Amino acid sequence: MRVNGTVATLGTRADPDVDLIEVDGSPVSFRLTDTTILLYKPIDYVVTASDEQGRPTIYDLLPEAPPSLRYAGRLDIDTSGVLLLSTNGELVHRLTHPRYHVPKAYEAFVEGVVSERTLDALRSGVEIEDGRTAPAQVERIAGSNRDTLVRITIHEGRNRQVRRMFEAVGHRVMVLRRTSFGPVTLGDLVPGASRPLTAEEVAELRRLVGLEEAGSA
Ligand code: URA
Repeated sequence: MRVNGTVATLGTRADPDVDLIEVDGSPVSFRLTDTTILLYKPIDYVVTASDEQGRPTIYDLLPEAPPSLRYAGRLDIDTSGVLLLSTNGELVHRLTHPRYHVPKAYEAFVEGVVSERTLDALRSGVEIEDGRTAPAQVERIAGSNRDTLVRITIHEGRNRQVRRMFEAVGHRVMVLRRTSFGPVTLGDLVPGASRPLTAEEVAELRRLVGLEEAGSA
């Protein structure tokens, strides 16, 4: 291992945010002590470090969280589901950056009967205030003559995007839950609970966002 080009010896100190750390000639940009977790965000919790209105925040659910644990993108107060948090700033940045197209799947319970034509429109992209949405995977899971459950997978992460996409095609979202973020799914977690990601999940996320250096996991 080298730090800033010099072979590291016992006692060599390095700051992964500042120093170039290499193993077998390849740069490593992770901290051995990094923590990356999945929180099943319940509704009525705000994704913020502190809420001006004094509402409960996701950090109330993570009392043991290291101070540098940051969320990778927000979910609305009225949306539940997968929220990833990490102490690795570069990973958080890339997970939220539209350039890396990490797929995020949602289950949306919407008002009205969603036609095949509307599903197709959502798939190819709809016009919302900040521009046309990118292609999405969309499938109808269930429905009655009053409402429809739709699974929608998007690769962007604009503010209230799924709700606005459905509004654009005339359907109000009544319940919204994110069921996966890249390879990470809710599994049998209950709302409010969290767990560390497995080494495989972290490795796959890092691969998806182009952080594949030697030794990363
Ligand atoms: N789309 C939304 O409308 N809300 C979210 O919280 C996430 C995606």
